[in-house]
Amino acid sequence: MFGFVIFSLVSGAQPPVTAVMHERYALLTEARDRIIAGDLAGARDAGQQLAGIEEISGIPGGWEQWLDPLRIEARALGRARDLSSAAAGVGRIAGVCADCHGATQGGPGLEGARDVPPQSWSEGQNMSLHRWATDWMWLGLLAADEGAWRRGAGELDRKPLTFRFGGASPPAWRPQIEQTVYVIAAAALDAPEARRGELMGQLIATCAECHTARTGASRGP
Ligand code: HEC
Ligand code: HEC
Repeated sequence: MFGFVIFSLVSGAQPPVTAVMHERYALLTEARDRIIAGDLAGARDAGQQLAGIEEISGIPGGWEQWLDPLRIEARALGRARDLSSAAAGVGRIAGVCADCHGATQGGPGLEGARDVPPQSWSEGQNMSLHRWATDWMWLGLLAADEGAWRRGAGELDRKPLTFRFGGASPPAWRPQIEQTVYVIAAAALDAPEARRGELMGQLIATCAECHTARTGASRGP
């Protein structure tokens, strides 16, 4: 559902480590999007696939300190009982990815993100702002990049939709949940790296909460 293309997904001449990383990225991002959309079964399925990724041979022995918790968390995501624990699990997994990227100087590069268009609001397009900001935070978290993280959090911290949601929403929706998004964004702006995964989990749980609060939840992402 998200439009970020941060690296080429063309396979072929890729080194195996890169190919496995792309697979992880695709599956974890799928889990995140399923949660945002309120789809627990879809998130679990992505978690199971993430846990099942076969590690390539010849990786440095020291990597187990990240790969073991990654697998354990992915398995737990595959069995998550509700959306909020699945969301917390995705946040913890993303935190493990970020830890290893920070330690190995690896991780997604931000070159591709230069093409991401600036966000803007237009009539009837409320959610593209949320999507845009969440994508920047996601990239900032995974790549352990301060600037990208703060860019996304800063956009939400400006409370872009308070008034637009105000009075306009049918009563079945719960516009007040939007406030929680802003509270989390404010905390995210100053959060140390070690807390970012947890905050990402809280953020996507909040998106899910509002999307599933709507009656006849067919119009979500
Ligand atoms: C054990 C360490 C480690 C863990 C854990 C890890 N990565 Fe990586 N990652 C790396 C290294 C090292 C690179 C750079 C090497 C490469 O791209 O060939 C990398 C590169 C990447 C890239 C960029 C690939 C490219 O096109 O250059 C992405 C995307 C990525 N990782 C996503 C993830 C995601 C998502 C997770 C967690 C689910 C994760 N990684 C977990 C070490 C790790
Ligand atoms: C206050 C309630 C509320 C919150 C909080 C909320 N949403 Fe939404 N979302 C909606 C409603 C209502 C719709 C369907 C109508 C619409 O698109 O405006 C929707 C639809 C969407 C869509 C599909 C429509 C589109 O424009 O593509 C996406 C994507 C989306 N939301 C992303 C998010 C993300 C990401 C978050 C969390 C950062 C979030 N939303 C938080 C109420 C909310």
